[in-house]
Amino acid sequence: MSATYSEQAPAKINLFLHVTGKRDDGYHLLESLVCFTATGDVLSGECRDDGAINLTITGPMSASLVLDDTRDNLVVRAARLLQDESGTALGADLVLDKRLPVASGIGGGSADAAAAIRLLCDMWQLDLDQKALARISLTLGADVPVCLHGKTCLMSGIGEELTDLPDLPEIPMVLINPGKAVSTPEIFKTREDEGFSISGLWDIEREFSSGASLADALSDCGNDLTLAATSILPEICDVLNALAREEGCLLARMSGSGATCFGIYDTKEQAEKAANAIASQHVDWWISPTQTLCEQTRELSNIGAS
Ligand code: C5P
Repeated sequence: MSATYSEQAPAKINLFLHVTGKRDDGYHLLESLVCFTATGDVLSGECRDDGAINLTITGPMSASLVLDDTRDNLVVRAARLLQDESGTALGADLVLDKRLPVASGIGGGSADAAAAIRLLCDMWQLDLDQKALARISLTLGADVPVCLHGKTCLMSGIGEELTDLPDLPEIPMVLINPGKAVSTPEIFKTREDEGFSISGLWDIEREFSSGASLADALSDCGNDLTLAATSILPEICDVLNALAREEGCLLARMSGSGATCFGIYDTKEQAEKAANAIASQHVDWWISPTQTLCEQTRELSNIGAS
């Protein structure tokens, strides 16, 4: 029997997200402080020697994905690109345990693609350089490079420029999705008339040299996709209000193009309490009390960076 490999695919959180411009090809230039959470999908797999790539999708959020052709799934596309790039004749039987809501602003599909790259490079013993991995990940989507990186960083360009930052402390958080998928291209299109944020608005050294707490430092910025997203899905406002109302909430904000929002809480206990209180009133919302990953927790859960 062949060995089973496993990789975590942590949710990506945009602690802030500024849209600073637009390229000729329609992609937007972004500046975003990105971190990752203990909540995520899990990808596992075994090696095949016939080159076939099979994907089975399980888990609480699998319903919408199992109806799609799995050949279109980012995990399978990542595997095919790695095969083409490396020339390997090996294949894989992969199982994706889908726990994150789909099309929800926390990079679910991108995190899965990044996990597939990590898992298959390990399983197939590929020795691809960083340049090749960066190219493959960007081909799969603008959020895949940061998910492959897997560490707190400042993301710019369309998502491919990553600047490492000192690790943030573990942040107690609650993630909430109101149960409705949103289309990222539609959100970008809706905000077309809003103009752009100034580049370099948020300077980590300046923000922290003043001794400000993370929540205080983040209050100077925001998510430039929020207005567009709430105009399409007003329930996002209900989610933000529900998070902000609970005791200990330091900041409530939308991640990515939504609809998932995060609340930062003073303590883990307050985050748990908030999640329980909100869950009792909104049985149809996806609610996950969690914390951000930092160097220590990443090592413990073996979530590797590239
Ligand atoms: O790269 P990805 O397939 O994840 O992007 C989905 C869509 O989101 C793009 O087609 C584009 O409309 C929009 N997008 C953008 N600028 C970015 C990232 C995504 O306009 N930096």
